[in-house]
Amino acid sequence: MPLDRRDFLKFAGLGALAAGAGARATPQAGAAAAIPLAGRADHTLRIARSLVELAPDHIVSTTTYNGGVPGPLLRLREGQRVTVDVHNDTDVPEQLHWHGQSVPADVDGAAEEGTPYIPPHGMRRLGFVPGPAGFRFYHTHVRAGSDLTRGQYSGQVGPVYIEPRHEPGAYDREVFLTLKEFDPFFSQGGDMAMDFLRPDAVDPALKARGERTMQASLARGDRRGYEVGYQAFAINGRMLGHGEPIRVKVGERVLFHVLNGSATEIRSLALPGHVFTVLALDGNPVPRPAEVPVLWLGTAERISAVVEMRRPGVWVLGDLADDDRAHGMGIVVEYAGQRGAPRWEAPPPFGWDYRRFAQPGAKAAPPDEVIAMTFAKQNAADGGFNRWTINGQAFDMRAGTPHFRLAHGRRYRLRMHNASDDIHPIHLHRHTFEIASLAGQPTAGVRKDVAMLGGYQTMEVDFTADQPGLSLFHCHMQLHMDFGFMALFDCA
Ligand code: C2O
Ligand code: CU
Repeated sequence: MPLDRRDFLKFAGLGALAAGAGARATPQAGAAAAIPLAGRADHTLRIARSLVELAPDHIVSTTTYNGGVPGPLLRLREGQRVTVDVHNDTDVPEQLHWHGQSVPADVDGAAEEGTPYIPPHGMRRLGFVPGPAGFRFYHTHVRAGSDLTRGQYSGQVGPVYIEPRHEPGAYDREVFLTLKEFDPFFSQGGDMAMDFLRPDAVDPALKARGERTMQASLARGDRRGYEVGYQAFAINGRMLGHGEPIRVKVGERVLFHVLNGSATEIRSLALPGHVFTVLALDGNPVPRPAEVPVLWLGTAERISAVVEMRRPGVWVLGDLADDDRAHGMGIVVEYAGQRGAPRWEAPPPFGWDYRRFAQPGAKAAPPDEVIAMTFAKQNAADGGFNRWTINGQAFDMRAGTPHFRLAHGRRYRLRMHNASDDIHPIHLHRHTFEIASLAGQPTAGVRKDVAMLGGYQTMEVDFTADQPGLSLFHCHMQLHMDFGFMALFDCA
């Protein structure tokens, strides 16, 4: 993280503040409190309301890390202990979650697991050993509910790169891209486009069940539950055409680390006339790097892909949705010596299939135990919002249910049935899982921490319970997790 003189003075002042006046810098109970507050932390993040200039005529007010969106790229080293000071300059409690890392529950950043809040106008010093290596990120982890200024609807998202022992491939240069939306609003209705996921076979029983429930609700006169839309989109905090272009040279190999930092949206990304060679998904090297014309990312998913620059011009690297691109979702790629208006060309239709990056024919080893889960939607059942259930239960913070007990060291398979027509980017905290099947098709070797479960489909993922304490499981869409789509795994 680059430090200017002003930052340095701020850091220098902090030690005195923590040792003396104390009240504003409140160390929390638990293991993190054992970390001495004297001296500088390796990294400092400040949560505060700020103005973000997406374009000269489009300035938004949102909560950020260190005044911008995305927050600073944190480069950490696998296995090398790090300290991070997180200051909360807002009036509300905050949580900062280390997405994709296996860190203790009191550092992980989820109140449901028991992580202490970062108090309003207070701070927490966190200490942890980063891992696993690869592309991770950090983001807020509070409930937003109907408040579109909070949680992931805000600008609180930033990339983390944990230096691996071996880089997954040869490249000339790395570019981090954080995709984010702004100016959220509620709407009713609007079905999510989902025809890009492969395999695309739906389960007739799940479909019948989902449609029956929906029709019963509409027959009772219910409206459709709220969805969230956005008026502005940005890559690295700038709307298409308003940031610095990515400047490239012919023959250069650029490694893109793409993060979908959206609260609720699935994103696509294409660069006309170029192909992506996907090396890693969610920061984990894939068994079989493969070329694709389009990247698709559910909320919180990351893709690391190399593009060989072989088609001189000025291009739009952007979302396939014309409307989202028109509202900012893209960034210009400019070859040296080329000029003119950036060009966009829609790529041919392309299905996104995680199995493309697996070894063909591979089968996951049998697990020790299978946990079956069914996800269902109760249309508009919670004050106009859809309520989400796992095996019939919406998440209850006080009771800590649904709740699944795990035995340390055992290998579990989550068999997840989606009785709704929405795609759910399913996430498990503090663990990496392996996709074992998609819509009934077995696969193995693709390791992730978020995976999209298609509408009326079944997906199986395997993981070893190797993290003591509570681990949160949820759909990563803020609108779904806030209204029931969460559960706790408890590892003794
Ligand atoms: Cu990005 Cu609960 O997670
Ligand atoms: Cu969901």
